[in-house]
Amino acid sequence: MSYYITTPIFYVNAAPHLGHAYTEIAADVLARHHRARGEETFLLTGVDEHGEPVTLAAKAAGVEPQELVDRNAERFRALTGLLEISNDFFIRTTDLEHKRLVQEFLQRVHDNGHVYKGFYEGWYCPRCADFKTESEIGPGNTCPIHLIVLTREREETWFFRLSAFQERLERLYAERPDFVLPEHAFNETRNFVAQGLVDVSLSRASLAWGVTVPWEPTHVFYVWFDALLNYVTALGYARPGVSLDHLWPANLQVLGKDISKFHTIYWPALLMAGGMEPPRQLFVHGFLLGPDEAKMSKSRGNVLDPFAIIDRHGADALRHYLFREVSFGHDGPVSEEGFQARYDAELANEYGNLASRTLNMLGRYCEGAVPAVATDAALREEFAGLFARVDELLARAELSAALEEIWRHVRRLNRYVEEKAPWALAKDPDRAGELAAVLASLAEGLRVVTVALLPYMPAKTTELLDALGSGERTTREFAAEGWGGAVSAIAPLFPKGSSEAA
Ligand code: MSP
Repeated sequence: MSYYITTPIFYVNAAPHLGHAYTEIAADVLARHHRARGEETFLLTGVDEHGEPVTLAAKAAGVEPQELVDRNAERFRALTGLLEISNDFFIRTTDLEHKRLVQEFLQRVHDNGHVYKGFYEGWYCPRCADFKTESEIGPGNTCPIHLIVLTREREETWFFRLSAFQERLERLYAERPDFVLPEHAFNETRNFVAQGLVDVSLSRASLAWGVTVPWEPTHVFYVWFDALLNYVTALGYARPGVSLDHLWPANLQVLGKDISKFHTIYWPALLMAGGMEPPRQLFVHGFLLGPDEAKMSKSRGNVLDPFAIIDRHGADALRHYLFREVSFGHDGPVSEEGFQARYDAELANEYGNLASRTLNMLGRYCEGAVPAVATDAALREEFAGLFARVDELLARAELSAALEEIWRHVRRLNRYVEEKAPWALAKDPDRAGELAAVLASLAEGLRVVTVALLPYMPAKTTELLDALGSGERTTREFAAEGWGGAVSAIAPLFPKGSSEAA
């Protein structure tokens, strides 16, 4: 079985920020989860380099667009590395192969009769690169996302006959009740479509920075069509010799709510127009907000800097925080204080401490090995269904609910230590058997939660699994018995002191 998952591709007009990191991490957690299940997994990410936002930024910086995108694409690539994203390919829409395949696909859409030449007149947000419909315009002709005054555009354009796909889209939505998750995002899509779709610009005559329209070489494709197609063009050259159908339709496409219209409406219509299947599922996540509950943005000065956090605490702590703090699929505020609080309470105290205590006690009382004895039956019972429940939740991309489920088990293990008080058992030679069983149970419970946490915190969990003597073993099977072998001590996984550097 294969699993193909994508992130949106990022505009390179500005520096990467936490909102970008959020989408990437979400997709990465799911990709790692599917890999751990033994599925052939392909995670695609990359950058969106054409269009007005980039043209405007290049002009402001006094450089050619190509120079700007070359420089900024590297910053996004660096971010994926720092975040521990396990992407299998990094697409740039300035790749020659991408451009050629965009032309090929859209020529087919043209030949299939889904485009026509006309004149566009209407309101446009250059920051969204979006032609706004009446219902999407804020007070005083403003963009509700960027809060800037919209520009009036009037130009010759090739239209994509989106309106002709109204019924087919409605049928798709009706047949596939989980095409878009979560439910509230799907409702918005259906409401938007129910208002009646209008045709959209496919080409721009006034821009030069983009993919040339083969049948009208003075136009370039409207950046959204060029960008959306990355999800299929990448499959055409990322893995030479592997056919596109091997991974298409994508299993899951992750995106933020600001770009839901493009992905849940334009995208399936465009694919149909080119004779391809729509993706299997789309997940629309919410916004990370500043502590003031406004969307994080540089201009508002409420940005939590992912680079600074990674620098101090590593990527795992950030990855954990985002899905613990904000319920995935909803909006929620994040802050420096919130991060510190969760770091101290959950990572340093609950999980980090559990790990150190368990390894220390195995060192002290069991000569550094997990005793080969039967584990606690009651505890085993409580842990038995964990992987199945996590699987079930992650199959619906419920990242926060799955993490909560795992965390309940971390807390259960801490209570188990308190209840059993191994340090007291160790004082009584008659209870050596009990002590061995308690520590073997703890080691096993710790291994299980750590394997479950691996997709969320790949670096620290790998370190801990190594210390627990797992070697190459990253199996997700619940093997309560037969677990054993030498363990080694490690430095605290989430040292408390480092949080004070803030
Ligand atoms: N280039 C387009 C996407 C094209 S995909 C074919 C674009 N790029 S973007 O860089 O502006 O945004 C990329 C992703 O980052 C989007 O999913 C967006 O929702 C996400 N985020 C940007 N700011 C965000 C927050 N403050 N919070 C959460 N995610 C947000 O749109």
